Amino acid sequence: MSELTVCADAELAARAACAQIARALKEARAARGVAHLALSGGRTPGRTYELLSPALESWRAVELWFADERCVPAEDEQSNYRLVAQTLLEGTRIAPGQVHRMEGELGPAEGARRYGQALRERLDASADAPPALDVVLLGVGPDGHVASLFPGHPALSATAQQLCVGISDSPKPPAQRITLSLPLLRSARAVILLASGPEKARAVAGALAQPTPKLPASLLCAERLTVIVDEDAAAALPDATRRARAGVHPTRRGDV
Ligand code: 6PG
Repeated sequence: MSELTVCADAELAARAACAQIARALKEARAARGVAHLALSGGRTPGRTYELLSPALESWRAVELWFADERCVPAEDEQSNYRLVAQTLLEGTRIAPGQVHRMEGELGPAEGARRYGQALRERLDASADAPPALDVVLLGVGPDGHVASLFPGHPALSATAQQLCVGISDSPKPPAQRITLSLPLLRSARAVILLASGPEKARAVAGALAQPTPKLPASLLCAERLTVIVDEDAAAALPDATRRARAGVHPTRRGDV
């Protein structure tokens, strides 16, 4: 069953997500000597990335990946890489070789092919099961999309061998994107879904309800999913769901 953390506001949700990511990275590094982290774009996670930079005493052996990217140049203001560079990378002495940018400028098909190859090379992929990222931070759209996996999109049917998919018809601009596939997201050891604001309430409730391709967030692996939201994004959750899943309730700035 997925875990739910409801915070009083977006700042506390960002702090809770930062704490969860830092904890998971340290555990992965201690267990396997390396930690693979994949990050999303959008407006929500920037504060978490700012907090995350000083949250690890060292970024040694952390490999940074992306959950999705827009097919724009790295310096474009729509670039997820640019968001992470400005919020996380600037304050973090992480070696360039540990940062794996999705090459959006190559276009969806070639960019996805090359990224899938990079993932296979760096992660221990077996013949039939996708490799396991250690931590994936996802936002969620009002329609329930995660990364660049949109409701009812054929990309949701990618096989376990397809680690990365090119998208040419994203309903969220820009149309051309690269995204990790659902099998790869589902094989991650820990997925954190971070959402704030009333416009996410329906998607958050859907993410914790019955799995359906109409709401991709609901297709994530519940056993390894932590949903971190503010009260506004929790507003559509049935009381029973909140009671059954709610974990930590950081309501004061000192809680996280
Ligand atoms: C992207 C993101 C996307 C995002 C959601 C939520 O590239 O657009 O990865 O999946 O997480 O659309 O976006 P906001 O955080 O801006 O609401």
